[in-house]
Amino acid sequence: MIDLLRIHKVYSQGKKTLHALRDVNLHVESGKIFGVIGASGAGKSTLIRTVNLLEPPTSGEVVIDGQQMTRLNKRELRLMRRKMGMIFQHFNLLSSRTVFQNIALPLELEKLSPEKIHARVQELLLLVGLSHRAHAYPAKLSGGEKQRVAIARALATAPTILLCDEATSALDPQTTRSVLKLLKEINIQLGITILLITHEMDVVKAICDNVAIINEGHVIEEGPLSWFFGNAKTELARDFIESTFHLNIPEDYRQRLSSQPFARSHPLVKLGFTGMTVNEPLISQVSRLFEIDINILSADIEYAGGVKFGYLLAELLGHPDQYEAARRFFIENHVALEILGYLTELPHQ
Ligand SMILES: Nc1ncnc2c1ncn2[C@@H]1O[C@H](COP(=O)(O)OP(=O)(O)OP(=O)(O)O)[C@@H](O)[C@H]1O
Ligand SMILES: [Mg+2]
Repeated sequence: MIDLLRIHKVYSQGKKTLHALRDVNLHVESGKIFGVIGASGAGKSTLIRTVNLLEPPTSGEVVIDGQQMTRLNKRELRLMRRKMGMIFQHFNLLSSRTVFQNIALPLELEKLSPEKIHARVQELLLLVGLSHRAHAYPAKLSGGEKQRVAIARALATAPTILLCDEATSALDPQTTRSVLKLLKEINIQLGITILLITHEMDVVKAICDNVAIINEGHVIEEGPLSWFFGNAKTELARDFIESTFHLNIPEDYRQRLSSQPFARSHPLVKLGFTGMTVNEPLISQVSRLFEIDINILSADIEYAGGVKFGYLLAELLGHPDQYEAARRFFIENHVALEILGYLTELPHQ
């Protein structure tokens, strides 16, 4: 369990001071994956580095499994840090050491016997799926393989907490998915608590149980993932959520789109479903009540934690008088409706 209580971090450089963390309170339950998301410079790395005191807070308390970190002496702090593995965006592997030797490093520092080190490294290689690469050097590995080595190394001393600072930012989308899947497996199989920071909502959506948004050193919103998608209030949170939905107007539609209605045109709309939306078959109701045909072009809708959220792009085809009534009906049922423009029907082919 990680508790950050009233954390402030002020960097001083000469006469200049920079308030990187402002009154941050965070509670990460054991066994959960907790994501902290924020833009560049928001204070994410500073935040994660205060957890293991790589960056001691200017004020506030860091409590790990009931232990107040700032009150420990050097030896106690070293023991506590053993409970915490850390991985980074750029892997930080030693280029002169093989995969095996990189993973063995923390165990050598612990002065374990060569036999014990060998057995433990084999175990870790198996866990991260790299047994066949044990004797390769980092230069010969793909980005995904390098991050797997870093994960194995971080887990070498059997920590209970894994800290991940932008661990997938340097990876392509497919490799990102496989590394996230590995982190989820580690979380479930070993019961390790993961604190993960990222600037990508897709990462949070893929594996996190809880999420917090950090902006200019403040945590501005926090909650379980399902709650967050449906209920987050701040504009920044909504922007992050929208970034995970990939809805584009098809190019041929875009070319035919006019901003104003004209004779025999019909609207192209974006319907937004949020946690507030009534869970009813609204599309077919609108179609029946207002005699409007609804042609869905694309949809990106998810269901989690009892709520539907996402977007749908559709043409409404009916009598112009009914469009306004349909619009009001959607809004009454908490569907955000945005008219993207007006289209003519294509001539029949
Ligand atoms: N050692 C330092 N000395 C002075 N200022 C620092 C130091 N480390 C970070 N900062 C400043 O603190 C603020 C927060 O930095 P931090 O690295 O935590 O942001 P971040 O959210 O991790 O950004 P990014 O997404 O770019 O990694 C920034 O304005 C940064 O310039
Ligand atoms: Mg950072």
